[in-house]
Amino acid sequence: MQQVIIFDTTLRDGEQSPGASMNTQEKIQIATQLERLGVDIIEAGFAAASRGDFEAINQISKVVKNSTICSLSRAIESDITQAAKAIEPAAKKRIHTFIATSSIHMEYKLKMKPDEVIKRAVEAVEIARGFVDDVEFSCEDAGRSDIGFLKEISEAVIEAGAKTLNFPDTVGIKMPDEIKKMIKELKETIKDRAIISVHNHNDLGLAVANSLAAIEAGARQVECTINGLGERAGNAALEEIVMALKVRSDYFKGLYTKINTQEIYPTSRMIASITGIEPQPNKAIVGKNAFAHESGIHQDGVLKHKKTYEIFDPKEIGLNKDDTLILGKHSGRAAFRDKLKKLGFNLSEEELNEAFIKFKELADKKKEIYDDDIRALITNSIANVKEFYELVALQLMDSTGGVPSAAVTIKMPDDTKITDAGIGDGTIDAIFKTIDRITGHKGLLKDYKVKSVSQGKDALANVTVQVQFNENEPAVIGHGLSIDTMLASARAYLGALNSYLAMEGMFKNSKSKGI
Ligand code: KIV
Ligand code: ZN
Repeated sequence: MQQVIIFDTTLRDGEQSPGASMNTQEKIQIATQLERLGVDIIEAGFAAASRGDFEAINQISKVVKNSTICSLSRAIESDITQAAKAIEPAAKKRIHTFIATSSIHMEYKLKMKPDEVIKRAVEAVEIARGFVDDVEFSCEDAGRSDIGFLKEISEAVIEAGAKTLNFPDTVGIKMPDEIKKMIKELKETIKDRAIISVHNHNDLGLAVANSLAAIEAGARQVECTINGLGERAGNAALEEIVMALKVRSDYFKGLYTKINTQEIYPTSRMIASITGIEPQPNKAIVGKNAFAHESGIHQDGVLKHKKTYEIFDPKEIGLNKDDTLILGKHSGRAAFRDKLKKLGFNLSEEELNEAFIKFKELADKKKEIYDDDIRALITNSIANVKEFYELVALQLMDSTGGVPSAAVTIKMPDDTKITDAGIGDGTIDAIFKTIDRITGHKGLLKDYKVKSVSQGKDALANVTVQVQFNENEPAVIGHGLSIDTMLASARAYLGALNSYLAMEGMFKNSKSKGI
């Protein structure tokens, strides 16, 4: 039997999905869950990109014990040093360094000759090996690179000490047969001197098919993300690759992963809840409809024998349909703690106490509390940093036929309370403008989403906003949760402002540094 190594890049490439940026607390929760899922390597970020990234990688390195923690770095000494410092506390660590190898990238982006690229790659691997044994080297845009050049640079970096060689289809242009041919040829050169890895983007919807084709050709590491998050159209979805290898073990003979598939669904839900990005309903494995049978013929078939239309039992990915209706008003702490554990959250005693109070408040208003309600409750409290401004009260004037207006009271950082009222083009606009006036921070609303968390007329509204507070810095995300949508909106907006203030100064460099 041969293992296929699962390299998860949800926290790095996945975070590059528009609107998916996460704070350190959120990343720690995800990393802990990825460890429970059994991923071999967690790419926790790109340490040199910002102070926020560095912090998150460093914290994750302190808590995760079983998975290797990896930081990305350009083939630049200062990046590699930052990566090494960030992962320093990790029990198992890897530095992942890369440089582009396609003519178009070398000529226009790097403005370097192929010989210079090889020299830089070798230097980078040598520097990284000075810090750690486990060094991965990536040929960015390998999918459009000359195969002869890929072989040449592979020889050089293996000689310099790289243990894993990654060949990304950075722009998602390859067909499965082409990837298979490329990996086969590289395998003939590389043999067993390094592990061959692939990293496929999904621009033509082929990222998973390409990853599986590469595995057939000899790749023994795949880089992937939960829910297929990632730059542009995303990366290959971890859950699809893993379940394809498992369900079709007759086809992928002798290959296995160390993934505990029962943790796939909880991990997918946690990430959707934290990022606010839901997988499309018909998404394979984890989409809302992946096990829904709509047609009468199908329903009849499934009732007679599940396998007529279901290729595997949803329980295999941890989706237990009977398990979702859970706690209520009378549930105690022990049941609540147990539920959190099942959902993959790892809270300190203090966080657990705070969450339990919130749960009880919710249970007073909402009769039935579902798994997704609990997830939203927890992810909202870890997403919103409360150090700066706190919403005390919100009062709305009836806008029917009149001017929409809002009165807002906010507890300021110095503990004083300020109340102000304002008007706007609609109630939400009035709320946000009044918050801007009280806090003195003017936000530009880039995105606003409202989603009902679970079912029922008393369902929680989960509002996600993306707000830019400084035109030279990226927009930040805020989440707000309440049975009242307007209250959830105010909380989300203030949450974004608090996150922005907590991260101020962490945006030093932008993440578009050549990736
Ligand atoms: O898509 C890509 O090429 C990457 C590399 C930096 C690994 O994300
Ligand atoms: Zn990528």
